[in-house]
Amino acid sequence: PDHRIALIPGDGIGTEVIPAARRVLDAVAVRHRLSLTYDTFDWSCARYLRDGAMMPEDGLETLRGYDAILLGAVGSPEVPDHVSLWGLLIPIRRGFQQYVNLRPVRVFEGVPSPVRGAEPGAVDFVVVRENVEGEYGEIGGRLNRGLPGELAVQEAVFTRTGVSRIVDYAFTLAGRRGGTLTSATKSNGIIHTMPFWDEIVAEHAAGHPQVAWHQEHIDALAAKFVLDPARFDVVVASNLFGDILSDLAAAVAGSIGIAPAANLNPERVFPSMFEPVHGSAPDIAGRGIANPLGAIWSAAMMLDHLGHAAAATRITDAIAAALATTPVRTPDLGGSATTDAFTDTVISLL
Ligand code: NAI
Ligand code: MG
Repeated sequence: PDHRIALIPGDGIGTEVIPAARRVLDAVAVRHRLSLTYDTFDWSCARYLRDGAMMPEDGLETLRGYDAILLGAVGSPEVPDHVSLWGLLIPIRRGFQQYVNLRPVRVFEGVPSPVRGAEPGAVDFVVVRENVEGEYGEIGGRLNRGLPGELAVQEAVFTRTGVSRIVDYAFTLAGRRGGTLTSATKSNGIIHTMPFWDEIVAEHAAGHPQVAWHQEHIDALAAKFVLDPARFDVVVASNLFGDILSDLAAAVAGSIGIAPAANLNPERVFPSMFEPVHGSAPDIAGRGIANPLGAIWSAAMMLDHLGHAAAATRITDAIAAALATTPVRTPDLGGSATTDAFTDTVISLL
């Protein structure tokens, strides 16, 4: 099978981890007889500083022709973060209806978790975050700037279509994993949108009688992520709650440098986008010491989405083996290896 991949390395360590992920993809492609071709786009804060835009005006039309997008990270100390977010990431996620943000969480042998009792093997769950609506919207405004009576209003938008499809995706995933579903809510405090969310979850539960499910308030749920992460399997959450939970989960798993994410358009009308959870890490950029595993695991999720589950598992198995059986790791994991050396180790274990 032939696949055309759009690479957007972005800024900072994004430009270091995407070439690493590509080397792993090429090594796996040979073994699984996949033909992967790539085009690289320099869309980034660096481009914004040069040309005044994160991407060209017809950027989405250009990307539309690809089977998948692999993104490093965007962000620069010289550019406000909302520019990189609203100038590139959000247009791609919303324009391509990538309404599922999938973030797997695993504690690997060889990576100590800061959480007591978070044993390798026992912690293996997925956060399913709603990715295109909810709390992250443009409706609202500010009045009386700088005055004592100043106020800011920010609206959250939840639609029946939007909530139904993410909840349905999560129930189906839980069913496929033979697992349970936890729904994040806050219907005691947020009295319109969250009861609406809860009702739709309950409606979908009726259609998935084999999936045990429950809902928990986001504050208690966050505490349980830290106190007892092994009890989770699939966790479904709104855009804001899912954003917070998935970064928390990445920290529970030991390093933000390992965590992957997929922005999926499950209907496959548009390309999906795969990206490590971490940002451009300006504090370590340019030194060749970034952990490439988040980008490599994201590339594995991309192969899985493209229909190559065995090739994807080959990559995640090699990641697990590198961590469990070798001392080679980047400084964020307590080692002294470079990005390239760590990548070579993963490739040698494919
Ligand atoms: P960050 O994830 O870039 O860095 C947080 C800390 O983790 C830093 O100390 C960094 O050195 C370390 N770290 C992150 N990834 C690592 C890796 N692969 N290997 C080793 N260490 C790693 O988050 P931060 O500092 O809040 O944001 C920096 C920039 O990245 C900002 O401009 C932000 O907007 C952007 N960002 C972009 C994202 C994206 O493109 N999707 C996501 C998150 C942040
Ligand atoms: Mg986040």
